[in-house]
Amino acid sequence: MTVTIARENAIAVVTVDNPPVNALSQALRQALVDAVAELDADATVKAVVLICAGRTFIAGADVSEFGKPPQPPHLPDVVATIEVAKKPWVAAIHGSALGGGLEVALGCAYRVAVASASLGLPEVKLGIIPGAGGTVRLPRLIGPAAAVDLVTGGSPVGAKKAEGLGLIDAVLDGDLKAGAIAFAENIAEKPLPQPISSREVAAVEAGFWENAEKAVAAKARREIAPLRALASVRKASETDFDNAMAFERETFLELRGSEQAAALRHVFFAERAAPRPPELAGITPRDIRSAAVIGGGTMGAGIAAALRDAGLPVVVIERDAAAVERGLANVRAIYEGSVKRGRMTQALADERMAGVTGGDDYGLLADMDLVIEAVFEDLDVKRAVFEKLSSVCRSDAVLATNTSYLDPNAISEGVSHPERFLGLHFFSPAHIMKLLEIVPTETTAPDVLATGFALARLLGKIPVRAGICDGFIGNRILKVTRAQAERLLLSGATPSAVDAAMRAFGLPMGPFEAQDLGGLDIAAFQRKAARARGETPFAPVADRLCAIERFGQKSGGGWYDYELGDRAPKPSEAVAAIIAEAAAGQPQRVWDEADIADAILLPMVNEATRILEERVALRAADVDLVKIHGYGFPRWRGGPMHYAEARGLAEVVSVLDRLASDGLAHPPCEGLRRSAEAGSFSALAK
Ligand code: 3HC
Ligand code: NAI
Repeated sequence: MTVTIARENAIAVVTVDNPPVNALSQALRQALVDAVAELDADATVKAVVLICAGRTFIAGADVSEFGKPPQPPHLPDVVATIEVAKKPWVAAIHGSALGGGLEVALGCAYRVAVASASLGLPEVKLGIIPGAGGTVRLPRLIGPAAAVDLVTGGSPVGAKKAEGLGLIDAVLDGDLKAGAIAFAENIAEKPLPQPISSREVAAVEAGFWENAEKAVAAKARREIAPLRALASVRKASETDFDNAMAFERETFLELRGSEQAAALRHVFFAERAAPRPPELAGITPRDIRSAAVIGGGTMGAGIAAALRDAGLPVVVIERDAAAVERGLANVRAIYEGSVKRGRMTQALADERMAGVTGGDDYGLLADMDLVIEAVFEDLDVKRAVFEKLSSVCRSDAVLATNTSYLDPNAISEGVSHPERFLGLHFFSPAHIMKLLEIVPTETTAPDVLATGFALARLLGKIPVRAGICDGFIGNRILKVTRAQAERLLLSGATPSAVDAAMRAFGLPMGPFEAQDLGGLDIAAFQRKAARARGETPFAPVADRLCAIERFGQKSGGGWYDYELGDRAPKPSEAVAAIIAEAAAGQPQRVWDEADIADAILLPMVNEATRILEERVALRAADVDLVKIHGYGFPRWRGGPMHYAEARGLAEVVSVLDRLASDGLAHPPCEGLRRSAEAGSFSALAK
């Protein structure tokens, strides 16, 4: 049963129960319309409370229905029906009132919420705009400026803020149902408030819309929904309700069928599936109530802050007292940065820091539930750390390595109870980046692997299982990105043309700018290790740059020149000469932006397909999550694998064949050819 109706004297309580998040399925929409009719006809009912069972108020339209033709009753009609009900409806909100859920609440005469509730219109994050009056009623209720913020940003607000905006009428303490019934009894005798749809929109100052448009465009870059959402709020502010509703609906339906919306929906469901992989269903993770990090450098400090932010007490172990001080200072610097950026109050930062202790005595770890190692990238150093951990930690403590490129199997040799060992690969800065690659070894027990996923949920991160290979999923694909970028240089493109093309595709930065920012030395170090193993990594220009210590911004020059104190990259004549020397004798051509993007992205897809064939990644969508959350791949493109499928795998294969015949890429792998025949990666990714 999706909707039940109970009576509390003269108040009817309509309870929505449509797990997991009370999404507005067709059945629920119909049940709400029926409830209005039934209660309108019931003379004993004076007011109605609309409340939800389970973890949340209505969390929105049912996103899984978006690929299909809309079924009546349509949501705008449901909201309109509630709005013209003869009895006042009171929305009683807990959890999240999002999208269509908030739109239903806006149809109600009143809205009350518990303090922990949040309200918002996240549609732009799905590549659409609100489709049931959100952009039209909101400016009529809270004014255009606040409406623009909520609708174009897509981020929800908490109940207190919502009350301040006039979005809700009261924040209730104690039991929501009892409080909402009391509220309803109080308003039942009053005249019905004016429906939001017939209210006037407050005037805006001159230039408001033009300024808003500039601000939204700058933030949205190439995402289309935020500007269309703004246009809809503007229309709603400048025309009557019915016209504005028609405009909103038309935009909503158009965007719902767009490529960007399909990509963003794909990411939405991939993100929700990631924390609970089916292969771990039913396996209980170990309890994590305390954690330690070994090494308080760049990664260790970030991981410590991430653990602490999730509420865990954290111990940082370093080599000696001075290093402990430096490690704790690194963590403190993270919190100071958060305070400076206004993300955190000083009091909260102090409280967080009070929960981080340091030491050089492994004895402090005797009762830890989880220890994450983030010391130098050196097998012997790491093995020595785990040898100590094996002797001091409880035998059921989970032990993890944050290695980027070393083989976790090799690191775990000699660990006692090796079933409790795994790789947890965080991304820098670890307290901010959402990706967590979870790397089981040959001996990792299923409940320890499940603990990795549970930890990601606790930290608010997106977990992706990765098999063992050089670089796991993300860095292995990154190597291809960089090699392709160099191949382009040898065949006529410049670093700035490559970077511009990748920005135009939607990345925040091109591959050369990114290397200059992070430093070229780390990759050079890895290439050296790879050569020692007998491999032949391809980086003819980067090798030459490193040989003359052009390591990037930190050394005053890398792929670009930098002026002191200025991070703006300037094309470098010295680098142009080095490229020309490396490219001597190679055929040169003129590259346009689309060809550059193809020459970088499609080989990444090819490598990712190999990764799927080898089962280093289990699902194509996992590769998408890795690139989006670890490397800034544009979300609205859906990730490289979704992009390739949307583009057509047959075309991807033919472009790769062409690049390969010109010596500019590896030919498509067998799995990619097979996927192209099947039309998707689904046959590979099981
Ligand atoms: N439609 C369909 N399924 C949904 C859904 C939705 N709107 N929102 C969540 N789900 C599903 C998830 O896929 C997941 O399914 P699973 O259990 O099978 O994996 C399940 O509900 C639970 O979701 P979460 O794991 O995300 O649960 P949390 O408790 O962590 O979070 C939430 C709850 C805050 C409500 C979060 O799910 C969320 O943000 N959902 C999206 C809300 C949203 O974007 N709403 C707007 C939709 S568009 C719209 O309403 C258009 C309208 O204007 C016409
Ligand atoms: P870092 O050099 O900034 O920090 C390493 C820290 O470990 C130093 O503070 C050092 O004093 C400490 N340390 C060394 N030996 C120790 C020991 N025996 N006991 C206790 N502490 C010890 O290095 P960074 O960048 O933090 O990297 C750490 C690990 O994380 C490496 O394995 C690296 O590959 C991995 N990693 C790095 C990423 C990055 O972007 N920097 C990203 C993801 C993983």
